[in-house]
Amino acid sequence: MADRPYILLSCGMSIDGYLSGVTDQRLLLSNDADFDRVDGVRAASDAILVGAMTVRRDNPRLLVRSATRQDERRSRGELPSPVKVTVTRGGQLDPCAQFFLAGDAEKIVYCASPAAADADARFGRVATVVDAGDPVDFAWLAEDLAGRGIERLMVEGGGTVHTQFLTAGLADELHLVVAPFFVGDSRARRFVSDGAFPWNADHRATLAEVRQIGDVVLLRYALSDRFDNGAGAE
Ligand SMILES: NC(=O)c1ccc[n+]([C@@H]2O[C@H](COP(=O)([O-])OP(=O)(O)OC[C@H]3O[C@@H](n4cnc5c(N)ncnc54)[C@H](OP(=O)(O)O)[C@@H]3O)[C@@H](O)[C@H]2O)c1
Repeated sequence: MADRPYILLSCGMSIDGYLSGVTDQRLLLSNDADFDRVDGVRAASDAILVGAMTVRRDNPRLLVRSATRQDERRSRGELPSPVKVTVTRGGQLDPCAQFFLAGDAEKIVYCASPAAADADARFGRVATVVDAGDPVDFAWLAEDLAGRGIERLMVEGGGTVHTQFLTAGLADELHLVVAPFFVGDSRARRFVSDGAFPWNADHRATLAEVRQIGDVVLLRYALSDRFDNGAGAE
């Protein structure tokens, strides 16, 4: 088994590069056809990871929606939806969040050491809480997931998490969907934070596909030599 899963980052952003707006209301950056495409990528994954801020702000269910895809997973001997994973420094997550309550698959919380015992007391009955060191190192986290049998990991944001996978050189594939509008407010969350990214003007990423999906466009980038052109192409 590889020492880490195949890692696919997926996100939607505005034309001006924002993942969300500034209000509490969730910003819809995709359309129905693209949500269905994302559902297909989820169904092909062993686990889905989001950062703790996304769990708190968006309260996502992170389930496969299509009954057909759920059945296909069952026929492969898998649960209808992938394992859910999050990462937190402070451990401030609501045990009643959809992350924990929705679906039968295992939920794994990688928690920085100082907060791990408290986190285990609070939501250890609904999730596996892993004391992940301090600070949590994403290369270590990826190796730990491989040890738990996760071969394909889909990362669905937010920006803090995407930044760390990218700057650590841990991403194999990026799906970037651009919605046809601007947010126009620098208080909103950008796709990534500042950082030293392996791809720059002297080392360009490989654009593997451009696909128009209604009024949005999907850009697929191959980010490593592990890039699997068939796997994320649904
Ligand atoms: N458009 C999209 O596709 C999309 C997808 C997902 C999310 N979003 C949006 O993105 C926004 C959230 O993004 P975000 O960047 O603020 O947050 P995020 O990446 O979702 O989560 C950040 C949190 O993850 C934890 N974390 C990150 N790195 C860590 C590390 N090395 N060690 C320990 N914990 C770590 C911390 O949790 P604690 O604070 O608990 O310590 C940190 O505050 C939301 O507005 C959401 O709507 C958009």
